[in-house]
Amino acid sequence: MDFEDANLNLLISFNRLSKIGHSPKREITPPVGQSDNLERDTGDMGFPRKMGERKRVAVVTGSNKGLGFAIVRGLCKQFDGDVYLTARNESLGQQAVLDLRKEGLNPRFHQLDVTKPDTIVKLRSFLKDTYGGLDLLVNNAGKMDMELSAANAESLMRTNFTGLCNVSEVLFPLLRPHARVVNVSSLISVVALRKCSSELQQKLTNRNISSEDLKRLMQTFVDCVGTRGGHGWPTGKLTGAYGVSKIGATVMSIIQQRQLLNDTRPDIVVNACCPGYVMTDLTGQKGMKTIDQGAVTPLYLAMLPPNITSPKGELVSEKQIVKWEMTNSKL
Ligand SMILES: NC(=O)c1ccc[n+]([C@@H]2O[C@H](COP(=O)([O-])OP(=O)(O)OC[C@H]3O[C@@H](n4cnc5c(N)ncnc54)[C@H](OP(=O)(O)O)[C@@H]3O)[C@@H](O)[C@H]2O)c1
Repeated sequence: MDFEDANLNLLISFNRLSKIGHSPKREITPPVGQSDNLERDTGDMGFPRKMGERKRVAVVTGSNKGLGFAIVRGLCKQFDGDVYLTARNESLGQQAVLDLRKEGLNPRFHQLDVTKPDTIVKLRSFLKDTYGGLDLLVNNAGKMDMELSAANAESLMRTNFTGLCNVSEVLFPLLRPHARVVNVSSLISVVALRKCSSELQQKLTNRNISSEDLKRLMQTFVDCVGTRGGHGWPTGKLTGAYGVSKIGATVMSIIQQRQLLNDTRPDIVVNACCPGYVMTDLTGQKGMKTIDQGAVTPLYLAMLPPNITSPKGELVSEKQIVKWEMTNSKL
């Protein structure tokens, strides 16, 4: 079964779940003044700005190609401030910046490998010295492999989950009031959650789950891949290593928003999202959307206006909240 078949099967099972009453989506009222039009003029987005305040700044991880590249392209058109295209490979990143400059856009570049803590710390120092803060973070970097081996599970978890956690932990102290964080997850996380044992589901949807609890759970998955039995974790080609790493990304987004609600900096909003099935190298260039179509929901979340009440700490697909119910069950 190739990626397309696997994905279609997952979409079919996802649709079936909706039909038997587990409706995964609920409508969100579109924020006032938002539209799908990526071509509109850059300008004051309504964010409160004091006299003498430093320029706003956005960072997109893993953006030398694919969705990240399209998100940078969209932000260059919409975001009121400097936009950083980041890449682990400096020359690929610089080339991507040149490609966007040919389109008349003006992204900046900074090297970042989400699995290398020293590069994250360097980026933080640069942002602090140059901008004094951060206004938008898109955790997009990711990889996918359908082989369910111990080495692969460890590698996907390191990039898709631990990388996201590390970048967030190092850069969140820089977030200014009204900052936005978008974690690119996947609807596969919903399907993978449903394939977990009920004991694991209870733990993963507990509304008091801490980031340490979640990291421990993700580690137990990595530790048990390759051992006999799934220990309650999904073992499918997509729901296995990739899907579980994306459960981590979705639940971490919910935890991050919960923590930020008690922060002294007002109106910092974190959401996870699924871009859809997008033609990128990750999918072997198969999919139903172009990269710019896939970037629509991440850009919508990146540009949420000030003091929005919803979506906040949600998983969002096609600009709609996907049901991911947190409960008071046992941890
Ligand atoms: N395409 C889809 O249908 C789909 C669906 C749902 C979710 N997603 C998610 O969307 C995100 C973007 O994926 P994509 O489809 O655009 O894939 P892609 O074209 O393969 O792009 C992935 C990007 O992540 C970068 N990356 C990988 N490991 C990294 C690391 N350690 N540090 C920094 N950057 C790293 C890659 O850099 P290199 O060029 O150096 O490898 C590349 O720029 C991923 O999180 C993916 O899981 C995609």
